[in-house]
Amino acid sequence: MCDDALADFFCFDKISYLLGSSSRRIEVSASLQERSVLLVKGPSGSGKSTLLRVLSRLQELVDGQVFFRGVSMRSFTPQVWRSKVHYVPQKPAVFPGTVYDNLQMPYNLRMNKSKQFDLEVIQRSFVDLMLDFSIMGQNANTLSGGETARIALLRSVILKPNILLLDEPTAALDENAKQAVLDFLTGWLEKKPDRGIVLVSHADESTTFPAANILEIGG
Ligand SMILES: Nc1ncnc2c1ncn2[C@@H]1O[C@H](COP(=O)(O)OP(=O)(O)O)[C@@H](O)[C@H]1O
Ligand SMILES: [Mg+2]
Repeated sequence: MCDDALADFFCFDKISYLLGSSSRRIEVSASLQERSVLLVKGPSGSGKSTLLRVLSRLQELVDGQVFFRGVSMRSFTPQVWRSKVHYVPQKPAVFPGTVYDNLQMPYNLRMNKSKQFDLEVIQRSFVDLMLDFSIMGQNANTLSGGETARIALLRSVILKPNILLLDEPTAALDENAKQAVLDFLTGWLEKKPDRGIVLVSHADESTTFPAANILEIGG
């Protein structure tokens, strides 16, 4: 596993990590091709969210390796790694300030200096995500859970990552908004080759992503 840098766009081989402060240890392997989805399933508390934290280097690996295009995670600095591999938590944090501030703020960071903040792209994405553009000036702390989830997703997408690590991105959404997000993600994957999604989901997303690889944890 993970020995074919072309086929295995994003790959982890027998990585193990601890759950919380306990000694419960999980070992998982999976791979992801370009333009595809890895669905992570498992009962509540089985370690799905923790896996995403490990893959984004917010939590240490105990053993094993993660590869992006055949290059080990360890050979990137955490900053460079996180510019390629974006984690969107189930309950994303918002910065103080407006929705606009939240979308624009990452562009002030030195690592994003070469990236262009493009309001037109954002405006189109608002339509795709069924968000009302009038919330741009709203205090981000006052957004609903579903709006926060979509703004956090958009905040990641506009920074052009290669891999999105999404933790139950549609959990706070009604049926229409959920479908909009799934269509948005499908469109995002199709637009460029060097993209992939690791999707933690309670719902059965295999109808939306029939070609997805599936990783079952625990149970
Ligand atoms: N910061 C933490 N401190 C203590 N325990 C934690 C922490 N984070 C996660 N856990 C525990 O690790 C286990 C896996 O959590 P998590 O990865 O969030 O599961 P899932 O996302 O599959 O529901 C749970 O039993 C949870 O209580
Ligand atoms: Mg979770």
